[in-house]
Amino acid sequence: MKKKLLSAILSMTMVAALLAGCGSSAAPAADTAAPAAEAAAEEAAPAEEAAPAADAAADEAAPAADAAAPAGGLKVGVSMPTKDLQRWNQDGANMEKELTDAGYEVDLQYASNDVQTQLSQVENMISSGCNVLVIAAIEGSSLGEALDMAKDAAIPVIAYDRLLMDSDAVSYYATFDNYKVGTVQGTYVKDTLKLDTEPGPFNIEFTAGDPGDNNAGFFFNGAYDVLKPYIDEGKLVVQSGKTTFNDVATPSWATETAQSEAENRISSFYTDKDIDVWLCSNDSTALGVENALAANYKGKYPIITGQDCDIENTKNMIAGKQSMSVFKDTRTLASQVVKMVTQILKDETVDVNDTETYNNNVITVPSFLCEPVFADANNYKELLIDSGYYTEDQLK
Ligand code: BGC
Repeated sequence: MKKKLLSAILSMTMVAALLAGCGSSAAPAADTAAPAAEAAAEEAAPAEEAAPAADAAADEAAPAADAAAPAGGLKVGVSMPTKDLQRWNQDGANMEKELTDAGYEVDLQYASNDVQTQLSQVENMISSGCNVLVIAAIEGSSLGEALDMAKDAAIPVIAYDRLLMDSDAVSYYATFDNYKVGTVQGTYVKDTLKLDTEPGPFNIEFTAGDPGDNNAGFFFNGAYDVLKPYIDEGKLVVQSGKTTFNDVATPSWATETAQSEAENRISSFYTDKDIDVWLCSNDSTALGVENALAANYKGKYPIITGQDCDIENTKNMIAGKQSMSVFKDTRTLASQVVKMVTQILKDETVDVNDTETYNNNVITVPSFLCEPVFADANNYKELLIDSGYYTEDQLK
């Protein structure tokens, strides 16, 4: 019976992980909640089984069997940066649902992209007795005071999606493989333009993310590392000359800022030339570039990359105005983080799969990296609609 149950959980989890593209993570809440609860009642997994094991099967099964909160009214503080961008609303909602389903009290706060607001929200979470904090920072290095408070109060902190910088008070980090997001974008450009065989030259421009967000450099470098050899040999030409992260960063990832910068570059460099590619690190900046192109560009429509599969951008992919995006299933990340919260509170080994990449200038933070997935107009139905991420109506 136990075996059957475990293998049922295992196959559900694997199917969901395949769909969601996250290496060894749990299925979306709706799929796992019931079996996890049942399994917990049936058998409390021994500690060795909960630890990351060489055997992937044990690794998959144990955390699912262990999802329920330990007894005793525990509260988790979840601090999100802003409601302005779609993904953080999804992240917050998923976290709240998964944590509540697992039996936790949840204090979910959004900080309107204002660092001071986030700082005082996190301080309130600490003084109001949260047992674990999950924080997606507006600016990675601005929460030092609150993190010190958390450390003094022995409250574990999980950095959510964005690394918390310059502090030793960060216990774990859960995110997507940020460098890989960039390589997926760069490789798409390389393959679509057939850079290894076509003579070129092709014109390319870059738009990257917020310099205060540690992820932004990883995205940019991932893409740039794939494309740099072709820039060096002159097959890809950056007419604006803007080739460093600092040259092309977009504060706050703001669509309007990306748009005005793109408008400037279009009118300065592309009144009589085509742009072949506009490499955008994410969807909010891609939207700005798409708006700028619609407003004042007359040449051939470029390849445009993005990330997040936001609704507006997915509509643009379907309409041929954005070539691709990178799907990061926020349900998968939420499941992973809830699993980590429970492992921390049960004093079990916490699931991580990277202990080298994410140094925050003080410590290297043990991390769990979920897999980002390539998305375009050909596979969005399977990725986004069949998996229940969006309804068909939302994309009309
Ligand atoms: C996230 C991206 C998002 C960006 C802007 C980054 O930290 O990883 O998914 O597009 O912030 O919100």
